[in-house]
Amino acid sequence: MFNLVLFGPPGSGKGTQSDHLVARYGLKHLSTGNLLRKEIADQTPLGLEAKRYIDAGQLVPDAVVIGMVGAYFDQNPDAAGFLFDGFPRTVAQAEALDELLSQRQTSIARVLALEVTEEELVKRLLNRGKTSGRTDDTDESVIRKRFSVYTQETSPVADYYQNKGKFQSIPGEGTVEGISEALCQAIDAVR
Ligand code: AP5
Ligand code: MG
Repeated sequence: MFNLVLFGPPGSGKGTQSDHLVARYGLKHLSTGNLLRKEIADQTPLGLEAKRYIDAGQLVPDAVVIGMVGAYFDQNPDAAGFLFDGFPRTVAQAEALDELLSQRQTSIARVLALEVTEEELVKRLLNRGKTSGRTDDTDESVIRKRFSVYTQETSPVADYYQNKGKFQSIPGEGTVEGISEALCQAIDAVR
């Protein structure tokens, strides 16, 4: 298996870049944000619990997210690899992911982190909020809250992978195609 983490703050382009990468490398896209929004749309108990956190710009509890990722793994036993998008977001999630992967005799090959200024991120998210229907995109105070959660709870995940020599920053501003090319170069170097 070949597994990648696409890392970066809200609005940095993880979802946008994932589409091309999963097609090119034959990976399964595992976006915890998308999985949670599906649970909300289906009005499952998990979705109802998650909605409270998402609407407030806070992280859904680790146990809920880790359980959901484990279930997704079990549903995709033949995957050639996974592209993780928006996960792991805490050090506890990163440790749980390592454990889930080691049970399958595999690991994370690389963590690619999209670097974008906060000013550009706010612009992108407010713009997307006009059409996405995402409740967490329309209110600038919720967007700011997501950034502060990212700084406090998610940025330590970068150190976690840095210490393992797996972390790599990629400039995340410019054209979608240019950023995609930079990601592919980084991936091809470790494949
Ligand atoms: P999640 O769905 O993961 O959202 P996020 O991390 O806040 O990031 P976004 O999806 O908003 O941004 P993105 O990086 O995917 O950028 P995109 O490509 O869309 O999480 C949502 C919530 O769910 C969390 O707040 C939390 O509550 C919960 N959650 C999810 N995972 C969790 C976890 N593991 N643990 C706990 N809770 C969890 O691009 C953004 C916009 O910019 C788009 O409009 C796009 O068209 C545009 N754009 C993209 N690239 C460019 C470019 N190069 N130039 C100009 N515009 C661009
Ligand atoms: Mg996304």
